[in-house]
Amino acid sequence: MFQNTIQGETVYGNLLNGEWVESASGHLLEIRSPVDGSLVGKIQAMTKEEVTEAIQDTKLHGKTWAEWPIHERAEIFYRAADLLVERAEEIADILTMEVAKERKSALSEIVRSADLLRYTADMGKSMEGQAISGENFPGGSRRKMSFVRRVPLGTVLAISPFNYPVNLSVSKIAPALIGGNTVVLKPATQGAVSALHLADVLQSAGLPGGVLNTITGRGSEIGDYIVTQDGIDFINFTGSTEIGQHISSLARMTPLLLELGGKDAAIVLEDADLDFAANTIADGAFSYSGQRCTAVKRVLATDAVADQLVGKLKARVEQMKVGDPREGAMITPLIDEKAAESAQKLIEDALEKGAHLLTGNKREKNLVYPTLLDHVTKEMEVAWIEPFAPILPVIRVKSIEQAIEIANQSEYGLQSSVFTNDINKAFSIAEQLEVGTVQINNKTERGPDHFPFLGVKASGMGTQGIRYSIEAMTRPKAITVNLRDEDLS
Ligand code: NAP
Ligand code: G3H
Repeated sequence: MFQNTIQGETVYGNLLNGEWVESASGHLLEIRSPVDGSLVGKIQAMTKEEVTEAIQDTKLHGKTWAEWPIHERAEIFYRAADLLVERAEEIADILTMEVAKERKSALSEIVRSADLLRYTADMGKSMEGQAISGENFPGGSRRKMSFVRRVPLGTVLAISPFNYPVNLSVSKIAPALIGGNTVVLKPATQGAVSALHLADVLQSAGLPGGVLNTITGRGSEIGDYIVTQDGIDFINFTGSTEIGQHISSLARMTPLLLELGGKDAAIVLEDADLDFAANTIADGAFSYSGQRCTAVKRVLATDAVADQLVGKLKARVEQMKVGDPREGAMITPLIDEKAAESAQKLIEDALEKGAHLLTGNKREKNLVYPTLLDHVTKEMEVAWIEPFAPILPVIRVKSIEQAIEIANQSEYGLQSSVFTNDINKAFSIAEQLEVGTVQINNKTERGPDHFPFLGVKASGMGTQGIRYSIEAMTRPKAITVNLRDEDLS
């Protein structure tokens, strides 16, 4: 059974060959809410033998699934999207407590995931392949014709992070499956309950047994084992740069897609609409307490506007509701106390080195109040380290050139924003920024989910986004017809 509630405690199984199973080890992990420590549920700590079984089982079903007509795979996704919407309130309640995400954002994560399923189904059906004539190349001929279509890679290992347990699981699973791959999902331990609900929805929508299996257990204990298992044909990972680089070092020839950390800069020029820029940047930096890969993680403001901008940022930040995600707070407890301690250290380091505290620097256990720091310099850790917490450093710059230079000095290269009313300047700056995406007059953000989403440098490898993800997890298969004279007669 997917979930079993005994004396008020819910125990979740893992999906294996269409059945929900418990680990023979009897070892369970308690998932407690970062909000109040209450029990969200218990999940299985799978043994290495069970991990191998889960992977091998998906392999067994690979050929049959790859032969399923795409339009039939798509039908399952449409049903799953409807079911996800039907169950959205229930799953949003769980997600809210499991990762302390504001209830409204939790709900929108579910609805967005349903939309992603539908769009992936549509996209899968529209990827028709190509016929390429030999005559286009010098010396070639019309008698040679290559028929190219995309075929699956095999079994995809999807590893998702805590902060979007549903959306960042489905954004791997759906493109992989529509492309004909089977999938093994290893969700973040904190986030696993929400991700298992997604797996349950997909199964209830008619996904055949063994096409999607789930693995739960601590990454620190079984992670290395999973990624080095024979039978994994592709690893699609989202998480920290540290773990992503570690996986990359173990992966040998297994192809990888990595979505990692970021230090997205918002550059604000003199001609920007400062009210708009301040509100947009503050929301981008502090929503979900800054626990978004795409959160604005530093502001580079030219001297001419810095005083005005920080005044407006401070006013906006001081209005933010702090506290319980069920009551609409934007700033909610961080995922654990360790995260709050790291955030505290970054703030202390900056203040010791002369940063000006505009608001914040207050903490109650894992709840960190939104903290705005001005006059941050390159010597401070907060100028370079990804906090994954509600901290926004403002670095004042003398010129656009200096803003670009500091933006590019980061080891990360996920996104950047440019706020200006001069579109030519915006384009020129955008061309020079070493990131996957530049947002002109907006906060940095992933969506909409069909756009290409990628990081350069330590922010990742490969490109997500519905069509891009399908392409990443499939390969071209070419069959070339060579007509002979007698074939034409
Ligand atoms: P994390 O600690 O790196 O964990 C990510 C996933 O990796 C979890 O499922 C984790 O499992 C698993 N894992 C841990 N050790 C492993 C190992 N040795 N082998 C295989 N898997 C292992 O990241 P997080 O704290 O969940 O997420 C926050 C980070 O993700 C931030 O740095 C953020 O920027 C990044 N992120 C990036 C993007 C993007 O699109 N670029 C999106 C979201 C988040 P356990 O939970 O069991 O440890
Ligand atoms: O944390 C990373 C997510 O992919 C961010 O998505 O920009 O839509 O909030 P978002």
